[in-house]
Amino acid sequence: MTADPAVPAGPLTGPATPGESPETMRTRVAALLGRSRDRSTALTALDDGELAAQHSPLMSPLVWDLAHIGSMEELWLVRDVGGREPLRPEIDGLYDAFQHSRSSRVELPLLTPAEARGYVAEVRDKALDALHRSPLRGRRLEAEGFAFGMIVQHEQQHDETMLATHQLRSGGPVLDAAPPPRPAGAVDPAAEVLVPAGPFEMGTSAEPWALDNERPAHVVDLPAFRIDVHPVTNGAFAAFVDAGGYDDPRLWTDAGWAHRTEEGLVAPRFWSRDSDGTWWRRRFGVVERVPDDEPVVHVSFHEAQAYARWVGKRLPTEAEWEKAARHDPATGRSRRFPWGDDEPRAEHANLGQRHLQPAPVGSYPAGASALGVQQMVGDVWEWCDSGWHPYPGFSVFPYPEYSEVFFGGDYAVLRGGSFGTDPAAIRATFRNWDHPIRRQIFAGFRLVRDAGV
Ligand SMILES: [Fe+2]
Repeated sequence: MTADPAVPAGPLTGPATPGESPETMRTRVAALLGRSRDRSTALTALDDGELAAQHSPLMSPLVWDLAHIGSMEELWLVRDVGGREPLRPEIDGLYDAFQHSRSSRVELPLLTPAEARGYVAEVRDKALDALHRSPLRGRRLEAEGFAFGMIVQHEQQHDETMLATHQLRSGGPVLDAAPPPRPAGAVDPAAEVLVPAGPFEMGTSAEPWALDNERPAHVVDLPAFRIDVHPVTNGAFAAFVDAGGYDDPRLWTDAGWAHRTEEGLVAPRFWSRDSDGTWWRRRFGVVERVPDDEPVVHVSFHEAQAYARWVGKRLPTEAEWEKAARHDPATGRSRRFPWGDDEPRAEHANLGQRHLQPAPVGSYPAGASALGVQQMVGDVWEWCDSGWHPYPGFSVFPYPEYSEVFFGGDYAVLRGGSFGTDPAAIRATFRNWDHPIRRQIFAGFRLVRDAGV
């Protein structure tokens, strides 16, 4: 049997590939929409009281996320691509993220869980109809399935947000997943690699589902630097805590120290120490010992920076992170993912909520970048020492509220996705951003230093 060259090898788990046929694209989109809905359903399999409750002022009630997922899908796939009349125009404002802060959404006359489930199912039927009617060519919103890819990513992004709400919820565990893999051999958590000086291509003009902020591709020239092969581990971070890192203002920036003092921070969020000095953490309702060899998670940008100063290193800039992830010195080109251009498979990265925690460092050697840097995609989002800015030549598409309105604000960039991020919602060009004080997200970090140091 010969393989159809238009159909990429693998289970169509990732974002659309450049040059993909409309037939393959349709199969891919339908599979990805189904997978994201299965996940949204699992994350909202709680009783009505829990779904309507506000588990943290940082988060929306889960039932808001669910109907908002449907509202965005209706707006772009049913009304715009499908050309249909609004299904429930009276609820548009309730689910507009710009009209209501997360902390105020619990006060709104939201759809009940049963109504929200009915609404998202009705929207999905019509979105699938639009998928079968669209040529997936022609106008920019439909070419290469962009609008469908945007909505797949949007639902998956809310699934990660809902996972963070689950982590903030009190009470016993309701989610379950297999433990992550372990490394096959010995791992040196302090290993570094040299990233040679020179230009590389940052961003993309070719990735079909890349969002506006990832575009266009442009050349960036960097001096040589050394980057950690692995993200900073819990064990390494605990040494910083135990050495009094949270009590030494010299290690913190002014903004970081002010925040640490105001909030009384003493350790990563969800950590606690018992009387004999052992660190414990609460993870989705389970209290367990903090595993030394996993990447640290639930630390803010400020905590990452203080740790970096303590060990005499620094956070990478966004360009340094992307060069270490994508640059192939043998060919001079930039890859779609650290391991190459193939879409993510289970052996490459800890993605997609398959495991509800980061994997120990060294668990994904098959996912290493050309330069030998590991776990850049999956496990934990990685804080970068870069603000949120457009690339040269940026243009808004398809709407300013996706990225543009946030440019220049009080944000730091995060890269690489986490164990909670779906394979279809990540690539090595993907850019995320958040306030430097945030700790509820699945974020950790790795460090760099100048090559001469
Ligand atoms: Fe949204």
